[in-house]
Amino acid sequence: MAPSILSADFGGLAEAVGAVANVADWLHVDVMDGHFVPNLTIGPPVVESLRRHSGLYFDCHLMMTNPGRYLEAFRDAGADGCTVHVEIGGTSALIGRMRELGLRAGVAANPDTPFADLEPFLGDVDLVLCMSVFPGFGGQAFMPEVLDKIRQVREAIDRRDLAVDLEVDGGIDEETAALAAGAGANVLVAGSAIFGAERPWEAVEAVRAAACP
Ligand code: DX5
Ligand code: ZN
Repeated sequence: MAPSILSADFGGLAEAVGAVANVADWLHVDVMDGHFVPNLTIGPPVVESLRRHSGLYFDCHLMMTNPGRYLEAFRDAGADGCTVHVEIGGTSALIGRMRELGLRAGVAANPDTPFADLEPFLGDVDLVLCMSVFPGFGGQAFMPEVLDKIRQVREAIDRRDLAVDLEVDGGIDEETAALAAGAGANVLVAGSAIFGAERPWEAVEAVRAAACP
């Protein structure tokens, strides 16, 4: 379970992270540049501040046109893993740079980006992220049409016996968690389902329980 702080109160991020610290496996940090997606969120200074409050694994989802320029800053700020979108191109070089920096390396695909665009990188990454909404905003509805691609990625990971996490992000709640996990996801991101809940720690457990009945 990777709660996304995009849906937390940005005026109280440290408390929000504290609320899920004992139940979350990772913390999902949504970085938006106002260019690859029409929204602006978090940069390295916020990651650095949060690092002082949390020992969680920081899973940084870089929704950016030019993530290469900032990878070192995210690593220095305390990111554990970074994920770049395949739609921007230059993916091999970005994976190489993440490795050089000691970051766990991920590639992400938008809902309308086919499996074929991810396939060439499967052997070189630690994580594949299938977006189940168009990135930019929390609180959107899960797109079931992405389930086929999730199955394709899972099948390829298993067939090639790769140590790659398969993460699904967007519209995950108790209902859709079961669909994503059933299709092969082993890491689930959830924002509004967690931080929109009165007791976020219970919401993390509820979504996990729904995914692993
Ligand atoms: C969307 C972000 C997601 C978002 C998920 O662009 O990448 O991580 O926070 O939020 P929910 O779970 O509300 O769809
Ligand atoms: Zn995300």
